[in-house]
Amino acid sequence: MAISRKVRDQMNNSSWIRRMFEEGIELRKIHGPENVFDLSLGNPLLEPPPEFRAAITRLVAEETPNTHRYMQNAGFPEVRASVAEVLAEESGAPITADEILMTVGAAGAINTILRSILDRGDEVVLIAPFFAEYVFYVEHQTGVSTVAGCDENWLPDIASLEAAIGPRTRAVIINSPNNPTGVVYPKSSIAAISAALQRAENKYGIEIYLISDEPYRKLIYTDTPYPFIFEHHQRSIVATSHSKDLGLAGERIGYIAVNPADPGKADLLDALNFSLRTLGFVNAPALMQRAVAGIQRATVDIDIYRKKRDLLYGAITKIGYQCVEPDGAFYVFPKSPIPDDTAFVAELQKQLVLVVPGIGFGTRGYFRASYCVDDWVIEGAIDGFEKAFTQANS
Ligand SMILES: Cc1ncc(COP(=O)(O)O)c(C=O)c1O
Repeated sequence: MAISRKVRDQMNNSSWIRRMFEEGIELRKIHGPENVFDLSLGNPLLEPPPEFRAAITRLVAEETPNTHRYMQNAGFPEVRASVAEVLAEESGAPITADEILMTVGAAGAINTILRSILDRGDEVVLIAPFFAEYVFYVEHQTGVSTVAGCDENWLPDIASLEAAIGPRTRAVIINSPNNPTGVVYPKSSIAAISAALQRAENKYGIEIYLISDEPYRKLIYTDTPYPFIFEHHQRSIVATSHSKDLGLAGERIGYIAVNPADPGKADLLDALNFSLRTLGFVNAPALMQRAVAGIQRATVDIDIYRKKRDLLYGAITKIGYQCVEPDGAFYVFPKSPIPDDTAFVAELQKQLVLVVPGIGFGTRGYFRASYCVDDWVIEGAIDGFEKAFTQANS
């Protein structure tokens, strides 16, 4: 057989999201695209802000020499300096260009980090519900995932985090605003997670990295300042991208930011540079690096996502679904009215509403609906949500 057993198994266990996508294609063929309400994908709906078009137009007109060649693996120094300047301003941490590596999206960032810190069999703690691809990233980089849980508000449960950490733990991945819950971790959660890591480091005599995956950081619908990890845990690394905040998911541009206070920073940065190169990324796309450098303060129009959040969250909670109100990203994660989330998702599908079961995020009994879709899709789905809910409760 040409395909490895490992990849075959991973493919078999993977991607409810993909499966729903394919079901969606079939349903659209049968019922017509206007009658299928697909809330299964997290593909950013909004076009990049005008600043992006202006930057691209200027870059194409300029044709500066040497801009299409190999560069330092971490990216153009002036691009990293621009990213560092804005991140330092936002986070209050004294980040410089030296601590920034431009990456192929957040996915490229996380793989680069894991490749750099894991030996075979080392453990990475995920906090369920989690972005399902983490499991494959950890496996690809020869690690093993262990799973902690959340409380009823979808904030990390500290006792379960401590229980998931052992002598081989090398990293904990957190994700806020969270995919799939939309919950934004408050400063108290970040502090509690960091304190738990400190206790575990002392207990086992190990060093644990806190990796914060933040592609939705600028998609937050409250005024509460975002609590950055840097002041809480020395060995901390941010992985992020402009897939969502600038609507550039297809352009594959993001970055890693290493905590300037990390005592092991020099070695870590060397390793990250090496891994970025040898994983085959070599460097992040050159044109995109230059395009995002000057527009670090721009975002898509977040008000549009906020209104969609209000529309979907308001409608499902009115029907009676239990759901923690999401303050960020573009997902809701309601409780399934029956314990079997896959069975309930199948019921919704009969109503031509597509969502992803909680099992796809390591958490049974819930489902994820994305609101990064046109309003007519949300509005059209409400009737199906209501019918499936009524049926489940009859
Ligand atoms: C939580 C989370 N992390 C990482 C990624 C990957 O982001 P990117 O497309 O920037 O690699 C996604 C994409 O949906 C995500 O939801």
